[in-house]
Amino acid sequence: MADARQRIDELCRQLAEHDHDYYVLDRPTVSDAEYDRLFRELVALEEAHPELARADSPSQRVGGEPAEGFETVRHAVPMLSLGNAASVEEVEAFDARLRKLLESEALEYTAEPKYDGVAVELLYERGELTLGSTRGDGRTGEDITHNLRTVRSIPLRLRGPAPELLEVRGEVFLPLEEFARVNAERLERGEEPFANPRNCTAGTLRQLDPKVAAQRGLDIFVYGVGRGHAELECASFAAQRRRLGELGFKVDGRFAAGCSVDQAVSFHRELETQRDSLPYEVDGSVLKLDEFALRERAGELNRAPRWAVAFKFPARQETTQVKDIRAYVGRTGALTPVAELEPVRIGGVTVAHASLHNQDEIERLDVRVGDTVFVERAGDVIPKIVKVVEQRRPADTAKYRLPEECPQCGTKVVKGEEEVVRRCPNLACPAQVKERLRHFSSRGALDIDGLGTKLVDQLVERGLVKRPLDFFKLDLETLVDLERMADKSADNLIEALKRAKQVPAGRLLYGLGIRHVGERVAQLLAEAYPNLGDLLDAEFEAIEAIEEIGPIIAASVREHFDVSDNRNEFEKLLDELDVIPPEPRPPAGDGPLAGKSLVLTGKLSEARGELKKRIEAAGGKVKSAVTPRTDYLVAGEKPGSKRDRAEELGVEILDEEGLRGLLETAPG
Ligand code: IVH
Repeated sequence: MADARQRIDELCRQLAEHDHDYYVLDRPTVSDAEYDRLFRELVALEEAHPELARADSPSQRVGGEPAEGFETVRHAVPMLSLGNAASVEEVEAFDARLRKLLESEALEYTAEPKYDGVAVELLYERGELTLGSTRGDGRTGEDITHNLRTVRSIPLRLRGPAPELLEVRGEVFLPLEEFARVNAERLERGEEPFANPRNCTAGTLRQLDPKVAAQRGLDIFVYGVGRGHAELECASFAAQRRRLGELGFKVDGRFAAGCSVDQAVSFHRELETQRDSLPYEVDGSVLKLDEFALRERAGELNRAPRWAVAFKFPARQETTQVKDIRAYVGRTGALTPVAELEPVRIGGVTVAHASLHNQDEIERLDVRVGDTVFVERAGDVIPKIVKVVEQRRPADTAKYRLPEECPQCGTKVVKGEEEVVRRCPNLACPAQVKERLRHFSSRGALDIDGLGTKLVDQLVERGLVKRPLDFFKLDLETLVDLERMADKSADNLIEALKRAKQVPAGRLLYGLGIRHVGERVAQLLAEAYPNLGDLLDAEFEAIEAIEEIGPIIAASVREHFDVSDNRNEFEKLLDELDVIPPEPRPPAGDGPLAGKSLVLTGKLSEARGELKKRIEAAGGKVKSAVTPRTDYLVAGEKPGSKRDRAEELGVEILDEEGLRGLLETAPG
C-alpha cells in the first residue's frame, strides 16, 4: 500500500513534468510510447487503489465524471475588459492620456497578441488547481473546472514554491490545426461544423461531459493574475510573465517587453504580417503598461483599465445580403456557384462576391438569394460565406440548385460518381475556351503583359483566337481594329507576345491547364522531361514514377495528351516557341543543409530571395514561422519576435556569418 502510494506520487510527478515539457515548452524529452507506458501504469494503480487517486493526477486530464450543471463563481478581483483602439492615432492618444495622467515623459509597455478565445481564471490553493471558471460578466462566471483540467498546458500543480492562494488569468483557445481536425470530423459525421475556433472553444468549455474537451486539444496562454498578485512580488508585468512561466504556465514567447509606443506599433504590424501563418487566431495586440505601481495609479474607468488597450486588427467578418447566385464555368468545365453580394468593406477591402464552392456547400449552408449572411475574409483567401442569419430571411425564398445545363453553352451538366463537382463536358464551351486562354497568358504561365480578361474575351468572341497558338499569329492590323485598343497598346502587345515566346518549360506545361497540374507539378514534370516533346508518349507508369507525382496526376497528364487535338496543339506550340529547359536541381539529400528547415528574420545584408536560393541549393528549406521543427533561425539586425520564439523553443540561432559557415561546409 505504502509502495503503491509512493509509486503513484512518483508517476504523477514524472507525467506532470512530461506534460509541461511537451505542452508548455514544446520540447518533449520522452517518446510518446514511453509516456503511454507511464500513463497506463498510473491508471492501473489508481484503479486498483481508488482511495489513493489524487485530484492533480494527470489521469484526470482525459475527463472524469460529467458535471451536473454549472455553478457560478464570483471573481474576488473583477476580470476587466479592454478599451479598443482601431488606428495608430488612437494608440498614440491612449499613450498621451496615460503620460499626462502619470506625469511621465515616456512609459514602458509590454505588447502581446490579443488571442481570440475564451478568458478564464484558474485558482490554485497550496499549489493545486482547485477551481477554473469563465470570465462571465467579469464579476461572476461559471465553474468549468472539469473541462479546464483536460487542457494539457494548464498545470494541475504549480512548480516550485508558490503563494498559498493564486489566481491566474488567461485565454483558452483552439489551435487552428485542431480546429480543422475537429470540423473535418464533424462534417464526416454529418454534423454542423463550428463557424470559427472561438465558437468551438466556447462550446467545448460549456460541455458538461469533460470527455469532449479532453479530445479537442485546447490550449492556453496566461496573461494576468487576480488574487496572489502581491505575493508573487513582481514589480513589472515582464517580471510577472517570467514568474508565471517558472510556475509552469504557458506564456506566449511572441511578445515585446519594455517597449515604447512606437515599438509596440511595430510589434503590432509585424504580428499583422504573420496573422495568417500563426498557429492560432489573434484579432490584434494588447498594449499594457509594464510597471504595476504605475498601473495602480492609473486605475480604471468603466470596468476597463486605463493602463491597457486592445489594438484591434480590422474585422474580418461582416454581414451583408446575397443579391444573386450565379454559376460560373471554369477552365476545366467545373460549375462554381458564386454569391453576388451587396458590396461590403471587410478589413479594408470591398467584397462583392463569395465563392460557394459546390452544390454540397450550398446545401450545407442553405444560402438563398435574398439572405443576410456572415462573410469572412482571411488574408488573401477568397471571401467565404460562414453562415446565414436565418432570422433575417425574407419570405418566399427558394433553395438554390445549380443548373442542369451549362449556363454558357447549354450542354447537359455531368457529375462523376465520386465527385461533388458538376461539369460542363463540352471542351468547346466558350466559357472554358476563354478560361483556358486566360490561364495560358496568366502570370505563372506565359505571363503575357497586356493580355487581360477583357481582351481575351473579345478575341474569342470575334473568332480571332481559339487556342493558345493563335495568340502568336495575331498581327498589328488585327489588333488595332479591336475595341478600346490604342496603337501603342497594340504595339506593346505584339512585343509582349514576342517576349513570351521564350518560355521556361515548366511554365509552358502549367499554361496548358491540364487538370491537377499546378505550377509545382508542372515544374517536376519539366525536370523529368527536359525535352518536353518526350512527355507526349511517356507511359503512365513512367510519369507516376516521378517523385511526388501520384496516379491521379499521371492519369490526367496521359488523358490530356491522348486527345489528338491537344497533342497537335502542343507539338505546334513546341515548334513555334523557344522553350527553355529547366536547370538541373541538386538531388535531394545532398548539400550541407540537406533536410534542414530554416527561418530568416531581421535585416540581412543579402536580399532574402538570394539567400533563399543559396539555402535551397544546399538542400535546405526556408520557412516563414519558427516551430519546434525549425532547425536554425538566421537572425539579422532587429530580429523581433521570431527570435524570442526561437529562444523559447531552443532553436539554434545563427547570424549571417554562422549561415555562411554552414553553406561553405559543402563537400567538394
Ligand atoms: S489582458 C484588464 N491580454 O481580451 C486586462 N486580455 O477585451 C484584460 N484577451 O477579456 C486582460 N488576449 O479575454 C489581456 N494578451 C491578452 C489578451 C486578452 C485576449 C481578451 C481577454 C479579455 C478581453 C478584453
